[in-house]
Amino acid sequence: MLPLEPYYELSDADLDRRIAIAKQALGSACVILGHHYQREEVYKFADLTGDSLKLSRLASQRADARYIVFCGVHFMAEVADILSAPGQTVILPDLAAGCSMADMADLPRVESAWRQLGEILDVDGLVTPITYVNSMADLKAFCGDHNGVVCTSSNATRILEWAFSQREKVLFFPDQHLGRVSAHALGVSLDEMVLWDPTRPLGGSDPETLRRAKVILWDGYCSVHQMFQPAHVELFRARHPGIRVIVHPECSFEVCQMADLRGSTELIQKSVRESPSGSVWAVGTELNLVNRLKHEMPDKEIHFLCPTICMCSTMFRIDAQHLCWTLENLQAGEVVNVISVASEVAAPARVALERMLAIV
Ligand code: 13P
Ligand code: SF4
Repeated sequence: MLPLEPYYELSDADLDRRIAIAKQALGSACVILGHHYQREEVYKFADLTGDSLKLSRLASQRADARYIVFCGVHFMAEVADILSAPGQTVILPDLAAGCSMADMADLPRVESAWRQLGEILDVDGLVTPITYVNSMADLKAFCGDHNGVVCTSSNATRILEWAFSQREKVLFFPDQHLGRVSAHALGVSLDEMVLWDPTRPLGGSDPETLRRAKVILWDGYCSVHQMFQPAHVELFRARHPGIRVIVHPECSFEVCQMADLRGSTELIQKSVRESPSGSVWAVGTELNLVNRLKHEMPDKEIHFLCPTICMCSTMFRIDAQHLCWTLENLQAGEVVNVISVASEVAAPARVALERMLAIV
């Protein structure tokens, strides 16, 4: 295997040139997927870009590519592996590119929550588990095994609607904010939602509250999106009358309610791109995406909805050095950083993912 360290001695121009050569040599055997939060030096080499839902679909449609190089984070590469065709290999250029929100829920604690709820209500008959795609594969498998489903930031409301057509209640993990704002959009009041703190017995609640609740929200959140505050929205509105505020639904309920629009990274890009020249926007999502929009559209005034820098440090781990190293190793016949979900997990996880893809 070629070592990674020497790649840090290369200039940006050399990295660009070598990535382009390796990519061309690999041809259609390799497809590079890039999430919208990827830094520009990597994103520009992606064959296909998108939000989590779009990338899940794209990964399953490129059966011709022997290698899927996923420039994103671990859970996304796992989804690509679960949905990929037999014989395809998924690669994450840096194995340390995780998601801190995904780490906030794990199988033992979700199983414990399910058991505890089972002691006070008929969980199998009344509760649909929904996992946000930002979660480990075994939680998707849990949902597959319990008549549950996966959702993404672009379809959470429709998935919740489906869940309520099946059963009375939902256990939603790991992102409380996405669950809250999406359920509220369907008319579920805040009083009908309860937060589940996995570190406390009965999630820190009581049997009566849990029996009454329609939505049980796991106490997880994104450390990047929690930085956007209502005061920031107020500040931009005061400074720029007529500004439009668009945010990702991982932002807090208050921020989402104050925004003009909320949606996935794909929807954010599309909305800003399709707005007329001269439009003024404040965008509440990861910095790399906002900077790309600013650079691409100098005819619009695009602001980052936070006075401090907040970026996803794990997305940022995928750099040109890791991409070049990955592709040149592939060229040399070495497959590095394979993401492979065990078949006993992948099979039920695929059930929950395909259920989602059939609904939206
Ligand atoms: P999208 O599905 O909107 O791309 O979001 C993924 C994510 O991790 C946002 O923080
Ligand atoms: Fe995870 Fe937040 Fe990074 Fe998205 S922005 S990958 S939710 S840590």
